[in-house]
Amino acid sequence: MNDKNILADIGESLDQLSLLALEHSFNAVIITTGDVKDPIFVYVNTAFCEMTGYSREDIVGKNPKILQGPKTDFNEIARLKECLNTGKYFHGSTVNYKKDGSAYDVEWNISPIFAHEGKIKYFVSFQKDITLQKELQRRNEELMIYQSKLASIGELMNSIAHQWKQPLSAISLAAQYMQMSLARNLDKAKLEEKISGIIKQTKFMNTTVTSFQNFLRPADLNTSFSLSRAIDEILTLVKDDLSVNRIKVSCALETADISIKGSENEFKQVLLNLLTNARDAFNAKESSTEREIKFSTLCKEAHLEIKITDNAGGIPSSPIEKIFENNFSTKADKGTGIGLYIVKKILKRMEGEISVENVENGARFTIVLPAYRDLV
Ligand SMILES: Nc1ncnc2c1ncn2[C@@H]1O[C@H](COP(=O)(O)OP(=O)(O)OP(=O)(O)O)[C@@H](O)[C@H]1O
Ligand SMILES: [Mg+2]
Repeated sequence: MNDKNILADIGESLDQLSLLALEHSFNAVIITTGDVKDPIFVYVNTAFCEMTGYSREDIVGKNPKILQGPKTDFNEIARLKECLNTGKYFHGSTVNYKKDGSAYDVEWNISPIFAHEGKIKYFVSFQKDITLQKELQRRNEELMIYQSKLASIGELMNSIAHQWKQPLSAISLAAQYMQMSLARNLDKAKLEEKISGIIKQTKFMNTTVTSFQNFLRPADLNTSFSLSRAIDEILTLVKDDLSVNRIKVSCALETADISIKGSENEFKQVLLNLLTNARDAFNAKESSTEREIKFSTLCKEAHLEIKITDNAGGIPSSPIEKIFENNFSTKADKGTGIGLYIVKKILKRMEGEISVENVENGARFTIVLPAYRDLV
């Protein structure tokens, strides 16, 4: 490294000791001019060159935009500009690009360095490659979503087992009748009635199996799916469990059908978590009011709102948002407190959000997703 050149590039500002400290930093360090509209690199340290593949000669004199690309978070860049314009400290993370075009996750801060007259002379930025950290975080999230899916599968198996008892016993009775009829004189009309009964029951069981098989499929994040179909299929699977618990479900979907981008099965996992939570809340206390869960949708300009409202008494926690935290549960050893945490993560992956409020005698969850008006 030629210290004299760097000192000359920056002018008078860096003494030998500061320069040594910057050069030996494990994090990348950048200094740009203080021109907010068009900042120019005047110094980058060795860690920056190692992180990005750019040499000092490549980068000094260029605008930091050189590091941006298609996956750069431009909301974060807008926030950065706001901070730079007002001379405030900035801290954020985004995706940047190396000299060879490969993307990396970066966490960075920027501090303005003021000249005597109060004008910004330089911006100093410390940067850290957090690609590995992000990847680990992503894998950890995947694992949690997967674990939660296993729990949902257990929940659904239970519900299906319940649901099948009734048609299985109807089929068994019909078969017994047919067996007895074989020994005696066959009553053809009665036999036909029994056979159509069996066909009807197996059709119903088949629908449940198809819905369950669909739920078992691995998540495909880059598809879109029909909202009403997702609601229908999940209700098919839990219908019996809900009716055993005397819970009525009503749906007021605003339009015939709405297409949602993301994994249908992960979205069903969201619905299942909300439904089982409402069921648990109903069962936690005795109430004389009719138990009801209402689904409603509202398609706004740029987004779709899905509201799931119950009359199970409302959320007991304060602040109410605590319920979305990992491990928060009021169900003692009956709950792990992971359900709503996963719900939030899944919706975030779909660029959506969820909020909760207590309404008259119950809780209301509002899911907001980007609107895709085309029908599936
Ligand atoms: N519809 C609801 N009505 C009342 N309280 C609710 C409702 N939904 C969630 N809660 C509260 O939020 C808490 C957190 O819910 P969450 O689904 O994250 O965990 P859990 O249901 O307790 O456990 P798990 O889902 O892991 O089995 C619940 O323990 C309950 O106190
Ligand atoms: Mg739960």
